[in-house]
Amino acid sequence: MNGQQPRTVLVTGATGTVGRHLVTALLDADVRVRALVRHPGTARFPAAVEVVRGDLLVPDDVARAAAGANAAFLLWPGLDGTGADAVAGALAARVDRVVYLSAAELQDDRVGPKDGAWADVEAALRATGVGATFLRAGGFAANTLGWAPAIRAGEPVALPFPEAVRSPVHERDIADVAAAALQDPRHAGTAYEITGPEQLTMRRQAEIVAPGGIVRHQARAEAEAEMATIMGREYASAALAYWATLEASPERVSDDVERVLGRPARTYAAWTRDHADDFRLAHAK
Ligand SMILES: NC(=O)c1ccc[n+]([C@@H]2O[C@H](COP(=O)([O-])OP(=O)(O)OC[C@H]3O[C@@H](n4cnc5c(N)ncnc54)[C@H](OP(=O)(O)O)[C@@H]3O)[C@@H](O)[C@H]2O)c1
Repeated sequence: MNGQQPRTVLVTGATGTVGRHLVTALLDADVRVRALVRHPGTARFPAAVEVVRGDLLVPDDVARAAAGANAAFLLWPGLDGTGADAVAGALAARVDRVVYLSAAELQDDRVGPKDGAWADVEAALRATGVGATFLRAGGFAANTLGWAPAIRAGEPVALPFPEAVRSPVHERDIADVAAAALQDPRHAGTAYEITGPEQLTMRRQAEIVAPGGIVRHQARAEAEAEMATIMGREYASAALAYWATLEASPERVSDDVERVLGRPARTYAAWTRDHADDFRLAHAK
């Protein structure tokens, strides 16, 4: 390990979709990993991971977890950025580098973080002067895990906006870019757009994940009621309003994953193969 690599990285969201792959990528690179988790009793990590109990929304917990670390991976739970200033300050006082999992505006040629918590957290980090890298991700391919129960049951996939065009991103690409940014100071002060390598309608995604399966056009109100039970009404309503725009204004494809990693972003088809067990796909056997 050379002198520029961090000795210890604090990973928040380490039990989550992106974080669990980031933990593996950092351990594979011989970086020491410390995970901030709310429930150490149920979190499962390799033995090499140092686990610290704490809540990301409590600045004192974050300060305690960051003490002695050199860099941090940050995600921000929920849609409200209140409190991000104090947490950003707690990190910046202790680590040299922060890689933040933000979200991108990807349609209408708009560039930058999505409004809301993502823009608030980016602003909070920028104000501290810490060496920050923003990973502005598009919609995760993993969001389509919500289709798994219908596919496993042989039922149609219900889509409120089947022709909405997305550029779904594999969570391991986000983790790989995060690992690179955490280890190389040249990524500080940079924002990357993290997308998949191709534009796909939601209907096409459903065909890829379940060849021969059927898509059902779902009324928006029905979709909102269903999604609200999983993610809350505010998030469901915001997601549907966004998807509605993607028929006329498809999401962009960025080449930032390839520029950072030197290889193309993983396709949605590759993601479905990695998640074959979740869907129990006949074609993946
Ligand atoms: N899904 C998308 O399409 C998309 C697109 C762009 C950006 N994003 C952003 O990605 C982030 C989510 O990443 P993900 O999908 O990898 O995570 P995830 O699978 O949703 O899991 C959330 C993680 O955050 C942890 N967490 C939540 N609240 C916490 C708290 N108060 N204190 C400590 N830890 C807490 C959870 O830990 P526990 O084990 O304690 O639950 C878990 O590890 C969000 O900020 C979201 O806005 C998502």
